[in-house]
Amino acid sequence: MSNADVLYKDRRFPEGFVWGAATAAYQVEGAAREDGRGESIWDRFSHTPRKTLHGDTGDVACDHYHRWRDDIRLLRALNLNAYRFSIAWPRILPEGRGQINEAGLAFYDRLVDELLAAGITPWATLYHWDLPQPLEDVGGWPLRATADAFVTYADTVSRRLGDRVKNWITLNEPWCSGFLGYHTGEHAPGRTNLKDALEAVHSLLLAHGKAVPVLRRNSPGARVGITLNLTPTYPATDSVADRAAAQRHDGYFNRWYLDPLYGRGYPADLLDLYGAGLAPATEPSDFAEIAALTDFLGINYYSPAFVCDGPTNSPWRVQGAPVPDADLTDMSWPAYPRGLYDLLRRVHQDYPTGPLYVTENGAAYDDAPPRGGRVDDARRTRFLARHLAAAKAAIEEGVPCRGYFAWSLMDNYEWAFGYTKRFGITYVDFATQARTIKDSGRWYARAAAGNRLPSG
Ligand code: FCB
Repeated sequence: MSNADVLYKDRRFPEGFVWGAATAAYQVEGAAREDGRGESIWDRFSHTPRKTLHGDTGDVACDHYHRWRDDIRLLRALNLNAYRFSIAWPRILPEGRGQINEAGLAFYDRLVDELLAAGITPWATLYHWDLPQPLEDVGGWPLRATADAFVTYADTVSRRLGDRVKNWITLNEPWCSGFLGYHTGEHAPGRTNLKDALEAVHSLLLAHGKAVPVLRRNSPGARVGITLNLTPTYPATDSVADRAAAQRHDGYFNRWYLDPLYGRGYPADLLDLYGAGLAPATEPSDFAEIAALTDFLGINYYSPAFVCDGPTNSPWRVQGAPVPDADLTDMSWPAYPRGLYDLLRRVHQDYPTGPLYVTENGAAYDDAPPRGGRVDDARRTRFLARHLAAAKAAIEEGVPCRGYFAWSLMDNYEWAFGYTKRFGITYVDFATQARTIKDSGRWYARAAAGNRLPSG
C-alpha cells in the first residue's frame, strides 16, 4: 500500500456490475484487404516508412476477423459479461460515404449474435481511430463534413445492429484522434498543425452529438455514450504558478471535452489562451447538438499528470513532473491507482454524466512467452487489482461507476508501437496466433465470477 493506492471497505462490487474487456478493430481484426474493406488512415499511416516501430502494420494483427469465434470462447473462459469492440468504418463504407459493403455489416452481425448467444453483452464503439482514407484525402476530421459522414455511418450500422446492440459508444478518445492525429502527428493521419487539431476535435464532438439521436431512433431502449481519455492533473508543488499550470492542463485535456458535452460550451480560460487565431470555427447551434443527452460516460484511465509551470513555447505552458510513488509500466506510464479514484469522484461531482464506466484500464508489460500453458504476469495482476480497488473505493463513496473493461482482451497492435507493447490479459503468439490466458486473466476471471476482488 503506497500513497498511490486507495483503501476500500468491502471486496464485493454492486449487483449487476459490468465485467468486461475491450479491443479496437484496427488493433485486432487484421484482414485489412478482405471482403471489400476500404483503406483507413491507419492502413496508410502504418504503411508509410518510419511512422510505426519496425514498420509494423495492422494487416494481420490478431486475425480476429477469422478467429472471432475463438475469441468469444476466450471471453467466456474469462467469465466476462461484456465485450467492448469497435466497428471498422471502412468495412461498412469503404469510401467513407456512399456504397455500403454488405460483407462488413454481416461480420458484425454474426459477432453480435454469437456474443448474445454466449451471454455476453456487446458494447460497440463506432469510431476507434480508423477514418476511411478517402475522407482524409478531402480534408479529414478538421472538416465539418466529416461529422456528417460519421452520422450517416452511425445510421447505417445502427439500422442493422440496433435491435441487438443496446450499448453504443460514439467515439473513443477524441483528444487522441484530434491531437495525436493532427497536432503531434504520432498517430494517423500524421499531420502537425494545432489549428487543424482543434478543428478536428470540434468536428468529432459534433459528430458525437449529431449521432446520439440517430442511435436512439434506430436502437430502441439503447444506452448511448462517449468514451474520453481523462487525465487527473495535479500541480507538482503548491505554488501559484504550478497550480495555474495544472488548471491549464486540465482545461486542455479534460474540460475542453467535458464542458461542451455537458452543456457549458468550451471553457473560457482555454478559449482565451488559444485566442481567436486558434479557436475552432463554430456555429451557434453546435453546442446544443454537442450537448445531446447521453446515458453514461466512458472513461479510459491509464495514468495521471503531475505538472509544473513550463516554457512558453506551447500555448499551455506546462511541463511534466515525476509522479510520486509510481512504478512505470512498459509504456513508461506511471501506475497511479489513486488517479482513477480522484478522477471518478471529480467527474461525478462536476458533471451530470449519469453512470460512469471505466471503458479501458490496463498495463503493458514485456511478458515472457507461455511456459507449460502459463504466463506469469504478476505485475499486471497487481495493476488490475489496485485499480479495481480504487474504483471500488469511489463506488463506496457514492460514485455511480457501473462497470470496468480491462484493456485489453488480448495482446494486439499498439498503434505506433506496433507489436512491442503487450497489454493483454491473454497472451498472443503473433507467429502462430495461439492465445494463452495470462495469470492476470485468470485472476480477473475469478473477480468477474465472484463479482468481488479475490482475496490473495
Ligand atoms: C488507449 C487506446 C487503446 C489502447 C490503449 C493502450 O488510448 O484507446 O486503443 O491503445 O490506449
